[in-house]
Amino acid sequence: DPSLRDLADRHGLRMGVAVSAHLLDNARYAEIAAEQYNSVTHENELKWETVQPQRGQFNWSGGDRLVDFAQANGQDVYGHTLVWHSQLPSWVADGGFSAPELEGVMEEHISTVVDRYADDISHWDVVNEAFNEDGSFRDTVFYRTLGEDYIATSLEMAHAADPDARLFINDYNVEGINAKSDALYELASSLLDRGVPLHGVGLQSHLIVGQVPSSMQANIQRFADLGLEVVVTELDIRTNTPASEQQLQAQAADYTRVFQACMAVDGCGGVTVWGVGDANSWIPDVFPGQGDALPYDHQYQPKPAYWAMHEAL
Ligand code: XIL
Repeated sequence: DPSLRDLADRHGLRMGVAVSAHLLDNARYAEIAAEQYNSVTHENELKWETVQPQRGQFNWSGGDRLVDFAQANGQDVYGHTLVWHSQLPSWVADGGFSAPELEGVMEEHISTVVDRYADDISHWDVVNEAFNEDGSFRDTVFYRTLGEDYIATSLEMAHAADPDARLFINDYNVEGINAKSDALYELASSLLDRGVPLHGVGLQSHLIVGQVPSSMQANIQRFADLGLEVVVTELDIRTNTPASEQQLQAQAADYTRVFQACMAVDGCGGVTVWGVGDANSWIPDVFPGQGDALPYDHQYQPKPAYWAMHEAL
């Protein structure tokens, strides 16, 4: 059987997986990540709290380990993430910085991280989760201190550090057409009008079985019509656990829906799934009683969702 990455390569699509560098010690985990996917995203290792836990102290060990793995396996690396309110160290979140000071802190962080990986990382989620569900801007240290311009400023800083990098804004609950994705659309349009370096939007796609938005393809299309690339950046589709055989079949149908929505639109760059297998998914930690959301199970065996992706590609 061809692998997912073989099939995706034929379409020029990203078929990615989120990887935790320390789990590469598990041979089966590493084997699946290498054999099935043409792209990897650091699940945590490039987040601010990990990369720069104290001001001016940079830690590259986990980031480098996965970049080295990707190079050894001929994979692309999708960078995640530069400016986000979560997994942000308290020296930034509670630092009490003035606007010019915070811009300096952002510049130091963004330019250092983007520059270090300029040869290795082609795409960056520059700003993550900027919106509330009603489409207003999320109240973060960045928004409070700098206003909505922090987004344009972050993109400009990343672009200055690596003019070849493709720069994204990433969020969740923006897969279908709704108030939040409308706000993302308005922001993206206005940034493009102003000549701000924005190249794509990431639809995280932490979905629930039976609830793939019916407007997902139309939503991807409207961003593509702006000239943007759309990537499904963090796909998982959760159920109550343990999932029944019927739920696993419904989940597979939902994976098919997501792939069809992406593949029907020219500007859709591909899909990344948020983890190698159910054994290591973030879902049960954050949504108690839910999980079984990924294409491989707790024993790292392929599920119906895996075969749905295989078939869709
Ligand atoms: C999650 C990781 O999967 C977990 O290991 C970590 O504890 C918390 O973050 N949206 C994002 C991702 O953009 O970075 C999050 O990843 C999941 C939600």
